[in-house]
Amino acid sequence: MTKWAAAVAPLMGVLEGREEWRAASRQLTGALVEAVESGEFDALGHAQSVTDLSLKLGRLVGLTEREQEELWYAAMLHDIGKIHGEQGHAQVGANFLHGVPHLAEAMKAVRHHHERWDGQGEPDRLAGEDIPLYARILAVANSAVRMGGPDRVKGQAGKALDPRLVGLLEKLPQ
Ligand SMILES: [Fe+2]
Repeated sequence: MTKWAAAVAPLMGVLEGREEWRAASRQLTGALVEAVESGEFDALGHAQSVTDLSLKLGRLVGLTEREQEELWYAAMLHDIGKIHGEQGHAQVGANFLHGVPHLAEAMKAVRHHHERWDGQGEPDRLAGEDIPLYARILAVANSAVRMGGPDRVKGQAGKALDPRLVGLLEKLPQ
């Protein structure tokens, strides 16, 4: 081993260890989501589909790697509150994340993923850009997954959904 390699080896070990923990954290999140989704057959895989689409949108709006990671958690966990039923699930889900300061933005996104661009959503009736960006991304991805494609989402631009993000959704390769 060269001197350089000997000096760097411990650092590489630390970095590899961190990567493993990052992966484990994601796998654990996936397991948790699957546990909740498995209660309702139609829900299985929903979070993963919303996550895939959210990240495509996130890249298009220019989110950094760190931001994309937080968006990943937000999207995977957005409906986790449904473990206590549909009613108020966004708030319930956000409350679960109170103990994870590293995911403060994800927590906000979970709380606000059913706000509407026109201010008629819940739980806080936020409107327009007062709705956190990740929550707006989740709302667009969620609608596209539920309605089965960008064409059906178009009509919600400027009503339930951020029109700019709907525009970006249309640009994604199908
Ligand atoms: Fe939801």
